[in-house]
Amino acid sequence: MKQTFQTSSAEETRELARRIASGTKPGAVFALDGELGAGKTVFASGFARGLGIVEPVSSPTFTIVQEYPCRRGVFFHLDLYRIDNPDAALAFGIDEFLYASDGFTLIEWPDRIEGLFPPHTVRVRIERIDRGDNRLITLDNPEK
Ligand SMILES: Nc1ncnc2c1ncn2[C@@H]1O[C@H](COP(=O)(O)OP(=O)(O)OP(=O)(O)O)[C@@H](O)[C@H]1O
Ligand SMILES: [Mg+2]
Repeated sequence: MKQTFQTSSAEETRELARRIASGTKPGAVFALDGELGAGKTVFASGFARGLGIVEPVSSPTFTIVQEYPCRRGVFFHLDLYRIDNPDAALAFGIDEFLYASDGFTLIEWPDRIEGLFPPHTVRVRIERIDRGDNRLITLDNPEK
């Protein structure tokens, strides 16, 4: 099912992501698309909050993956900006995160590994719709 939302601040995007996270089950994979500065990491921080994670979530650009244990499993936050192609991702062990049964996996720059995502992947797209803080957020969940 496709849903669209509009937010007008980072806090509203965080709140939306928090609600989305609280309705997801372990094994969930989220592909988070959007240009530089769209709000992907903001979304990830709200998502973590929804999983009950209290430590701050920042951009994992230099580490590719950050893991946060949570009550219901593990939150994996990946940033594939620096990954050139699917083979590089496979070499790095991307499957471990795409098929983690106790994982809640959220991936920034999913276009780097298009074709590797499992069918149940939820697609999230964040778009700027003006020069200010408004964002259009589209959610496409194949299971709902
Ligand atoms: N409605 C909004 N939703 C999300 N972020 C917003 C919104 N309005 C303004 N912002 C600001 O936009 C910026 C988004 O930064 P963020 O790091 O989340 O982007 P990103 O998509 O992860 O970028 P990158 O591709 O560099 O990883 C933040 O400074 C945030 O405060
Ligand atoms: Mg980011």
